[in-house]
Amino acid sequence: MDLIDELRQNNIHIRDEIKVTEMLKELMEGGPDRLQVIADFDMTLSKFIHKGVRCDTCHNILDESPLLPEFFREKAVKYRKKYFAIETDPNMTVEEKYPYMVEWWTLGHELLIQSNVTKHKLEEMVRDSKAKLREGCDWFFEQLHKQEVPLLIFSAGLGDLIEEIIRQQAHLYSNMKIVSNYMEFDEEGVLIGWKGDLIHTFNKNESAIHKSDYFSRLRHRENVILLGDSIGDLRMAEGATDAKHILKIGFLNHKVEESLQLYKSKFDIVIVQDESLDIPNAIYRKIQNKRV
Ligand code: TMP
Ligand code: MG
Repeated sequence: MDLIDELRQNNIHIRDEIKVTEMLKELMEGGPDRLQVIADFDMTLSKFIHKGVRCDTCHNILDESPLLPEFFREKAVKYRKKYFAIETDPNMTVEEKYPYMVEWWTLGHELLIQSNVTKHKLEEMVRDSKAKLREGCDWFFEQLHKQEVPLLIFSAGLGDLIEEIIRQQAHLYSNMKIVSNYMEFDEEGVLIGWKGDLIHTFNKNESAIHKSDYFSRLRHRENVILLGDSIGDLRMAEGATDAKHILKIGFLNHKVEESLQLYKSKFDIVIVQDESLDIPNAIYRKIQNKRV
């Protein structure tokens, strides 16, 4: 991989080097003006492991918070044990996993409503949590903002918490759009429900964003970088029907041996167990420079 030195590392897997080289050339040629980025949040923009300790997803922040009742934590951990194994099972198809994910999110969100979550506690919960943005995320956000590249963060996590994590650990910019599960609060700030349609790991092609004018307004941005850590994340760009080049970058954090072939067959570039955003940043640096 001659265009970008960082892609030569042992933990980077590319199924088709010729195709990726061609795509990188197109992306560099188009520069920031022709680019849009679509990224998953949990375990893609955020870390899977930090200093040997598993990091929190948005949902885990709540599961582990002492500010919520014991019955909530017990049940949430039980659900996670059962359903995370299904989510990441390389021997099950997306179709087989789908109903289980609906079940997990429905149970989890119902349980949160029963647990007296309040808006004003979210900031403290995030501050005390093990949720961490990947190294280099702040640089990536800053550069995309400077060059006015739209960043769609498309997450089956919790939008209110994603905003809080980004506010605390980087910066929320105007070029970012977050599509996720947002909480609905009453006048006292107590969680009473959820806004919009439920987003889980495997229905990222059915969200309201695909029916909105988001992608049609970005029609001239025919180059897309997609960042994800789950096979379901590949569907995030289905609304970008005018895209000419979609560079799919996948983070493989877990069950590496069993999943590598599958990830290699679906993503253009697979990054194995790397807790930084160094590879996307190296690619973006070249796009910024607009030199082939
Ligand atoms: P993402 O789309 O931002 O990656 O968010 C989805 C992740 O959230 C997925 O990996 C599973 C995780 N999750 C939990 O950890 N606990 C829960 O209760 C639920 C519903 C999801
Ligand atoms: Mg994820």
